[in-house]
Amino acid sequence: MELCVALDLPTKEENLELVEKIKAYDVWLKVGFRSYIRDGAEFLQDIKKINPDFKIFLDLKLYDIPNTMADAAESIMGLGVDMFNVHASAGKRAMEAVMQRIQNYEKRPIVLAVTALTSFSDEEFQRVYEKNIASKADQFAKDAYESGLDGVVCSAFESASIKKITSEKFMTLTPGIRPFGEDAGDQKRVADINFAQSVKVDFIVVGRPIYKSKNPAEVVEKILEKL
Ligand code: C5P
Repeated sequence: MELCVALDLPTKEENLELVEKIKAYDVWLKVGFRSYIRDGAEFLQDIKKINPDFKIFLDLKLYDIPNTMADAAESIMGLGVDMFNVHASAGKRAMEAVMQRIQNYEKRPIVLAVTALTSFSDEEFQRVYEKNIASKADQFAKDAYESGLDGVVCSAFESASIKKITSEKFMTLTPGIRPFGEDAGDQKRVADINFAQSVKVDFIVVGRPIYKSKNPAEVVEKILEKL
């Protein structure tokens, strides 16, 4: 299992300060909407300047018509990131278009599909998708698997079932992790490290429990000791 640290701080300077503090550790860094919209591709270069070995997950959750998603995926190829994601609810044709467009690149990033956002309660989810989270997440995962993606973003509670209906090798990346039972914030379906390990999650994403701590490096070290 690998640790992915979410860089969700209010300014570029604060994010880079965090990166600097944890530069000695073998972790992935997740760059999401907030940072990418504000700081752009240059921010990715700034991270690599601190430590070129950092792996970067660009969490932009693409959702659009197939051709636009494939175009966006091609643009992402120029950024040198190691992982990016799309929404499974964009449909199989969109996911297939993305994979087809990037298949001829020598080294392509890992591509994941978002199933159900971990902030959804079952009730909120049903209002949008008219099915419960577990069954819809399974279906989204199956679609992503059949479209040639490498894995999905899901909550730890769906990981075991998804691997069972796709493949053990089909990756799961789970946000909403509170490593040692910390405050959940707006997340509804949170799990700790022990649970994530028990269901063979491949990547855990941790944001607030690290960047809100007085000593982020210590938290990262404590998490890595457990993995
Ligand atoms: O602070 P916290 O640990 O809750 O951060 C979780 C991160 O994972 C945030 O950056 C959030 O955008 C992201 N995320 C999520 N649920 C998903 C996909 C991504 O919480 N399904």
